[in-house]
Amino acid sequence: MVKRLLARAPSNIALLKYMGKARSDLNVPAHGSLSMTLQGLASYAEVTQSKGNEDRSVQDWPELLSSDERAACGLPLFSNPAKAQEKVLKHVALCREVLSGEAWAAVPTYGVEVRCVNGFPTGAGIASSASSLAAITLALAWSFAKDPDEFREAFSSQGSPLRAKLADLSRRGSGSSCRSFMGPWVEWNVSQEVSQLTSHDSPLRDLVDLVLVVDDQPKLVSSSDAHLRVTTSPLWNGRVQRAEDRLSQIRSALQQGSLESLAQLAWAEAWEMHSLFHTAQPPFSYWTGRTMELLQWFSHHQTDRRFPVLTLDAGPNIHLLARKADCLGWKERLQCAFPSLTFLSSESGAGAEVLRWTTA
Ligand code: DP6
Repeated sequence: MVKRLLARAPSNIALLKYMGKARSDLNVPAHGSLSMTLQGLASYAEVTQSKGNEDRSVQDWPELLSSDERAACGLPLFSNPAKAQEKVLKHVALCREVLSGEAWAAVPTYGVEVRCVNGFPTGAGIASSASSLAAITLALAWSFAKDPDEFREAFSSQGSPLRAKLADLSRRGSGSSCRSFMGPWVEWNVSQEVSQLTSHDSPLRDLVDLVLVVDDQPKLVSSSDAHLRVTTSPLWNGRVQRAEDRLSQIRSALQQGSLESLAQLAWAEAWEMHSLFHTAQPPFSYWTGRTMELLQWFSHHQTDRRFPVLTLDAGPNIHLLARKADCLGWKERLQCAFPSLTFLSSESGAGAEVLRWTTA
C-alpha cells in the first residue's frame, strides 16, 4: 500500500465558459466548455495514512515539498481557505465510494490525511478549486491503487480511459477541475466527455497566459452560486445554443491556428458571461474600477494587428493569452500605463501527474 504520495495538477483558463448547470448536484454543465491548461500554476496534493480511522483534511504542510521541488515551483506556497476543507472531505468520501467498484483499487479501511497547497496566490483570479480537486482526486486514486506502477502506466497517456475516468470523478467535486487532467487545449462536453482538443503540434500550443492581478481578495459570490444565479437573467434565453455555436467556432479557430478569430471569440464570450452576472435577478458583479479601466485601455488597442486573447473568469482579474514575445510586449505597455499592476504568468501544458510516492 502507498504510504505517502504527492500529485500535481495545473489550473486552467476557459475561453468558452462553464457557467450554468443542467444538474447542480452532479456538476453537469448546461453546455460544453473549452480551456487552456496552465502548466505553471499548479496545486499539490499529498495523501498519507491517517493515525485514526477518520479521513482528515490537514492545513499544515511544512514538509509537503522538498526544497528542490519548492524551487521548481518558483513561488511560495499558499493554503486553500479553511472553508474548502469541508469540500475536500466530501470529495474523499465520494472517491472512496466510486473507486471501491474498480478492480485496480483497494480502498483502505483506515483513514487518509489529505494536504493540498497552491503554487500561486489563492484568490488571484486563478481557479484554485480546479487544480486542487484534480490533484486530490489523482493523489487519492493512486494511493488506493493495488499496484502503483501499473496505475502509472495506465494513467500516463493523455487519451487513456483511466485519465478520463478520474477527470469525470474530479468533475463531481468541482466541475472545471475535469479539464485539468489534459492539455494544452481541453474540451468538456454535455455528455461529460473530457478530451484533449489538439495534438501537440497544433499551431496554438505555445500560448502564454499573463494574469493581470487586479484584486486578490476572496470573491463575494462563489462560482457555485454564480452557476445558479445566471439562469435568472433574461439573457439566459438562448445562451445554451449561443455557447455551443461559439464553442464550435473556437474549436475551428484553434485547429486553423487563427489567433485573431480566437481573440474575437474569447472577448465576446467573456462579455457574455459577465453580462449574465450583471443582469441576473438580483444582479451582481465581480468587476472593480480597475477592471473597467483596463478593459477600456484594451478597447483603445483593439485595432492592433496582434490584439491578444482576453478573458475574465468569475472574478475581477484579466487573463491575456498571446505568444511569448507578444506577451512580454503587452506586459511592458501595461506596466507603463498601470505601474502598480501585478502579474502572474504560465505557459500551456499537459495535465495532472504524480510526482513521487513511497510504499510501506
Ligand atoms: C467561471 O468549476 O468553480 O471559472 O462546479 O460549482 O465547483 P463548481 O464550479 P467551478 O466553475 C468555474 C466557472 C468559471 C468558468 C470555467 O472555468 O469554465
